[in-house]
Amino acid sequence: MIELSVIVPTYNERPNVGELIRRLGVALQGIRWEAVFVDDDSPDGTAAEVRAAAQADPRVRCVQRLGRRGLSRAVVEGVLSTAAPVIAVIDADLQHDESILPAMLARLRGTATEAPADVVVGSRYVAGGGLDGWDAQRERMSRFATALANRMVATGLSDPMSGFFMMKRETFDLAVRRLSGEGYKLLLDLLASLPTPPRVAEIPYTFRPRRAGESKLDSAVLWEFSLLLIDKKFGRWIPARFLLFSMVGISGVAVHFAVLTLLYQVAHLAFTASQATATLVAMTSNYALNNSFTYRDQRHRGLSWWRGLLTFYAICGFGVIANVGVAGFLFERQGWALAAAAGALVGTGWNYAATRAVTWRS
Ligand code: GDD
Ligand code: MN
Repeated sequence: MIELSVIVPTYNERPNVGELIRRLGVALQGIRWEAVFVDDDSPDGTAAEVRAAAQADPRVRCVQRLGRRGLSRAVVEGVLSTAAPVIAVIDADLQHDESILPAMLARLRGTATEAPADVVVGSRYVAGGGLDGWDAQRERMSRFATALANRMVATGLSDPMSGFFMMKRETFDLAVRRLSGEGYKLLLDLLASLPTPPRVAEIPYTFRPRRAGESKLDSAVLWEFSLLLIDKKFGRWIPARFLLFSMVGISGVAVHFAVLTLLYQVAHLAFTASQATATLVAMTSNYALNNSFTYRDQRHRGLSWWRGLLTFYAICGFGVIANVGVAGFLFERQGWALAAAAGALVGTGWNYAATRAVTWRS
């Protein structure tokens, strides 16, 4: 029976696969372990590399996801694919120190002097932990994000942003249906999704420089982090994506008026032509913004960008009809302000639901 399943999310980590498996073998001697790589169809052929390794070592498995991206969701699928009672999550790039895994497992099970924990976190910020080769600026950013996260979710951890942690299967099962799944910070998501605070413990380690390949952390990660925090705060009432979608909608109104003013007031074009152009520009800008922010994880590129734009135009066309229809209906009874607000709400609701189902279906 397997005691420990190590979930390894990968995207373009081919050169690190063999070395990680070798190191896990060294670190986990005496423990019955398996490693589940969850690869999002990396163009560098990581999945093929994992399968080749699995031929030589039956403790290695590969879950390959097609047409999807996302670190947290990849890890969730990995956890769901195993029956192990204890699950660890570790990056493939050897930045996390696999040699503390046995200590994490021991801490989870409890010792003569320490009670068992539900979640054990590899921490950069407890005494004995650290950051190898980080400049002051990057460390400040990381500490700021950590403080922000701790303000939103009371975790009792010094490093709630860690991507290196271990948990009991029962703990994961309690949270799995409430997870946002957005972005990178599965641990934070998990802690915020549990019905009662888990018993947590931290084990220090030094975050090493990446061994090969490059980090996937870009501006999008910061964005996804905010999305996760919003979702954890307000998600019970309003999905974070709807909030973002509405914010983009408001920006579209500003774009519309800017273009309209330019064409009608400044360039003295006919009103209908100005209005039609302004509508088209605003719709296009809404599409582009939603595509790069609201649905960053399902972003359309190349030819698919244009196809997405056409569906967006078509759907928002109906949205306008719904908006005007509802507002017209309420105008007599409720007055213009309420009628306009209701029209906008129904239009936005339709646009959100329909573009989510068609333009950015995942
Ligand atoms: N399946 C999948 N899909 N894996 C991904 C994706 C994705 O979309 N994006 C990244 N990964 C994998 C990488 O291949 C790597 O194994 C791991 O997730 C972490 O990605 P990095 O790009 O190396 O992230 P980082 O080093 O900047 O940040 C990591 O360490 C921090 C400190 O512990 C992450 O684990 C952060 O969550 C963590 O805070
Ligand atoms: Mn990394």
